[in-house]
Amino acid sequence: MTTTANLEEIALNLKGRDFLGLVDYTPEEIRYLLDLAIELKRKQKAGEIYHPLKGKSLGMIFEKSSTRTRISFEVGMYQLGGQALFLSKNDIQMGRGETIRDTAQVMSRYLDGMILRTFGHRNVVELARGATIPVINALSDQSHPCQALADYQTALEHKGKLAGLKVAYIGDGNNVLHSLMMGAAKLGMHFASASPEGYDPAESSVKSSREAAQETGSRIDIVRDPREAIEGADIVYTDVWASMGFEEEQKDREKAFKNYQVNEELTKYAKNDYLFMHCLPAHRGEEVSEGVIDGKHSVIFDEAENRLHAQKAVMAAIM
Ligand code: CP
Ligand code: NVA
Repeated sequence: MTTTANLEEIALNLKGRDFLGLVDYTPEEIRYLLDLAIELKRKQKAGEIYHPLKGKSLGMIFEKSSTRTRISFEVGMYQLGGQALFLSKNDIQMGRGETIRDTAQVMSRYLDGMILRTFGHRNVVELARGATIPVINALSDQSHPCQALADYQTALEHKGKLAGLKVAYIGDGNNVLHSLMMGAAKLGMHFASASPEGYDPAESSVKSSREAAQETGSRIDIVRDPREAIEGADIVYTDVWASMGFEEEQKDREKAFKNYQVNEELTKYAKNDYLFMHCLPAHRGEEVSEGVIDGKHSVIFDEAENRLHAQKAVMAAIM
């Protein structure tokens, strides 16, 4: 049972931390962030002003496009009483070769927190190493922890619990899968994914998720057959076949993934009350049929909204 004293200890432990991946957070800390996200959502809907980050500034460096992440961080920071600065990589000196180390040091002198969306995960690790302020991973080639946090907030709101549920991911073994898998392991959920050969999740990610799963008693199954993965699932998840940076592989991937579409035929094998999830942006008719993504099981816009609340929880906790 989590007591008030425990909660205070968790809150204290979170201050000043980076948020690079769920792997660095304990199950209790993740639960704390989910509960805080739900509370901040309640406050916002009730019109309560809550400004714990008054006078603070967040720098947001983007190497890749974004709709949800950019808007939700910017609005989230404003709602918490602070301000956010959008810094396209091409517009700052980092785009002309200033080192990540120097950028980290300089930005630490002005700001109270930073987010980075990057092609190489090592960049966000290096930024965090060089910075004296908290750094948040706003998507890398390896992981997308803000997305997974918002997704599990959404699942918790719809299902009333997380532990014991089964999450099925069908499609590309990418950044979104990795964070979803780690989150499931930490939260005691059973996770099964099916990807075509050559597109499996990274072995290192599967290994670390399985280690986390051992502690919570959950299971991670990586299979080839989408039917096997989706069988009895409470949550059915998919993402684009070609992530940012892989656009030139689109045609090859369409061939490789043709039997991996989440559609009315495949979802028959999930539980009757399954939730359909997608991080968005989506390609209807590719990874998911229109009937499924726009159907009654879909909670895609709740996930998108919860990016705001979940990231506010992260920023309020660590900044
Ligand atoms: N899901 C997500 O991160 O969306 P954006 O790329 O629009 O930020
Ligand atoms: N896997 C996708 C997620 C986008 C939010 C990508 O990296 O492009």
